Order: sequence, then structure tokens, then C-alpha cells
Amino acid sequence: MAGVSEIEQMLAEALSAIASASSTQALDEIRIRLLSRKGDITSILKSLKELPIDQRKEIGAAANKARVAVEQALNEARDRLLAAAAISALDPTLPGIRQPCGALHPITLVMDQLCQSFIRMGFGVAKGPDVETDYYNFEALNFPPDHPARDMQDTFYVAGNKLLRTHTTPVQVRVLEAQQPPIKVIMPGKTYRNETVSARSHCIFHQVDGFLVDEGVTMADLKGAIYAFCRDFFGDDVRLKFRTSFFPFTEPSAEVDISCFLCKGKGCPLCKQYGWLEILGCGMIDPNVLRNVGCDPEKYSGYAFGIGVERIAMLKYGITDIRLFYENDVRFIRQFK
Ligand code: DAH
Repeated sequence: MAGVSEIEQMLAEALSAIASASSTQALDEIRIRLLSRKGDITSILKSLKELPIDQRKEIGAAANKARVAVEQALNEARDRLLAAAAISALDPTLPGIRQPCGALHPITLVMDQLCQSFIRMGFGVAKGPDVETDYYNFEALNFPPDHPARDMQDTFYVAGNKLLRTHTTPVQVRVLEAQQPPIKVIMPGKTYRNETVSARSHCIFHQVDGFLVDEGVTMADLKGAIYAFCRDFFGDDVRLKFRTSFFPFTEPSAEVDISCFLCKGKGCPLCKQYGWLEILGCGMIDPNVLRNVGCDPEKYSGYAFGIGVERIAMLKYGITDIRLFYENDVRFIRQFK
């Protein structure tokens, strides 16, 4: 019968064999030799009952300690070998698996391009909530109480006095309330109108509004900014036409047409033989709007503009049906990488 020192010797040898084992088969052999039913350690444990009581205790403790240590060492060595095998099974020279890659939505692309154009001109970017109050969407923007745009036809009303903003211009009021001039920001976002969905109009669309307020701002600054933007966005040879218009929040107001970039003004189906394409609304901020936000119109003046993103995207890509933007047909969306 093995004594304590022989058991310790057996354990030391087993641990060093386990440490140098290079395969799981080698580990299995060690396990069988020591821990199977007829294994060396198992046999010692089985024959303990034949020993006198004083030896039984000592040798039993040593054999049990050896069994636990060998089992633990075998398990650890097995994990180590399996992990190493998994790493060496990886062949870094194999060609990679190409991941399917999405594309940015054309509205996102055009929105980003519009914003980048103005950011290059020194404009900051501000955002406001899609769910607005009547005050920000209409009242502060100098819409008279009976203005037709407040009609249920155009506006989605939600609970209370809340509504879905019909334009991004209300953000102008929020920015003017929160900051002191000089201010120069653009305000991109989603807008909503309760309109019948057709090829030409949708109930959800996007706008980029912008404004500048400072001392001594004039219509010449507005024209300069719009020219700079249009040259940057549509190309150096673009020509502009400012047509008088009306918005409650600007005075005077204008709509801007650019020379048709397809026919260069000669007349074609894109511009409906007109030679010009309408691209934005703008004007000098009405003194009433400045007064509503506590900004002295005797000291400060400003210009503002609003661009319809879908309209620009449709012109740019020759898209004739606005509904395509919201159908999520990948055959359409994939074309705009
Ligand atoms: N909010 C106007 C609309 O939705 C567009 C607009 C026109 C915005 C003139 C402006 C502006 O800031 O000055 O039709």
C-alpha cells in the first residue's frame, strides 16, 4: 500500500504530466490511469478500509487531496487546450464575409448636404420639438387668429393645445427666446400637414429653416446668403430670381427661383417650360416676431428662409412622386448611395 510520500510523489508527477500534455487524448489517458474505476488514486481510496485506523486517516486525506488536485488540473488543462485549438482553427488568410451594407435615405443625404452648405457659411444648428403649441407654430410667428393655415385642413391637432408643427419656423422663436443676438442658425427637421397624400404632396415632409439676427441686417445680407448657398449647392453658374411673396413672419417676403439646372433656363419638362425652379421662401423677420420674443426691433433686424427638403431632393434626382420617399422600397432607396 502506498504511503503519504508516495501519494505526494504520484501527485507531483501527475501535475507535471498534465501541464506538459499537448492533446486532450493525453489528458484522457492520465485521467484513466489515475481516476478511473481501476485507476491508481481510486484504488488507494478503495483499499483504505483495509488499513489500520491511524494510517487510514493520513493516507485517506493525502489520496483525496491528490484526487481533487488532479481533477482540477485536468479540467483546467482541457479548457486551455480547447481554447488554443479554437484560435488556431481561425484562418486569417481566408477572405472575409461581406456584411450587407445599408445606404442613407435620399432625404437624409439631401438634408445633410443642405446643412453642410450652411455650416460652411458659419451657421450653427438648432433643433426643436415635432409636437408644438399653437403659440410657437402660429401665434408668435404673427399668424392672425383667423389665418387659413390654422384651419383643421392643414394642421394635425393632438391632445390639449398641442399640434404637429406644420413648418420648422417655430424653432426660430425658441432659439430667439433662449439666445441673445447675434444669432445665425439653421433648423432642420420633420414637418406635418393634414393634406391628402398625392404624387406632389405628403402629410410628412422635411424642412430646413434658417435665420440670422444682428444689428443692421438688411435684405442685401439675405440675398448674399441665398446666393452663396445656391452657388455652393447647385453650382457656380446658377442664376436666381427673387419674387415677392407673403409669409406672416417676414416683411418683406420673397420666394426664390433658380434657373433650371436641366435646361439652363430654356424650358423643359422639369421646370414645366418655365425655365425656373422654385426652391425656397425667405424674407426679413417681421418686427412683430422680434417683439414677441422680447428682442428690440429698433436695435435688431434679421433675415429668415425655409427650404423644403423633398422638393430639392425631387429636383436633384428627377423624382416625380413624393410618396416614393416613404414607401421604403429598397429598389428605390438603394439608388442613392
Ligand atoms: N415656413 C414656411 C413654409 O413652411 C417657409 C418659410 C418661408 C420659412 C419664409 C421661413 C421664411 O423662415 O422666412 O412654407
